Amino acid sequence: MTKAKRQPVDEPIDLAAVDNIVRRTGTTADAAIPILQAIQSHFRYLPQEALEHVCRTTEITAAQIAGVSTFYSQFRHKPVGRHMVRVCHGTACHVAGAPLITEALRRHLGIDDDHEDTDADRLFTIEKVPCLGCCSLAPCMTIDDVTYGKLTPHKATMIIDKVRKESGR
Ligand code: FES
Repeated sequence: MTKAKRQPVDEPIDLAAVDNIVRRTGTTADAAIPILQAIQSHFRYLPQEALEHVCRTTEITAAQIAGVSTFYSQFRHKPVGRHMVRVCHGTACHVAGAPLITEALRRHLGIDDDHEDTDADRLFTIEKVPCLGCCSLAPCMTIDDVTYGKLTPHKATMIIDKVRKESGR
């Protein structure tokens, strides 16, 4: 029997927070980028419902929002996990085994769809990033603001389990 895949549950979007952002930032087209940045900073991604609310309450059109939010890679359109795991895939880390680290973490967290980067508990999001600037620790990763180096696939998954435990999950 195959195990049913658990789907993450979307939390309701607090549109009052979007109203506050618009009130602080402005309602004209030139406010589009700061509004999206503030929405992402609040929700950690750009919820569709929040973007539609911006269209309804400002002069900014859906086309302008779509243009800005897809042009800049800083904007995320899917919810992220509580912890951002950034695995360095710069040259030194790549040579030292970064692809194996990423693969082990994804497998460990049950992220098997190539289009997904977040686990079903929405606890971890895995990102591949360029050089983190600590090549002597290769291969390395950061979880939120903490750097972990000299990783092996096993060590990386143990670190994930430790962070998960500390999160009470
Ligand atoms: S290549 Fe990974 S820290 Fe520089």
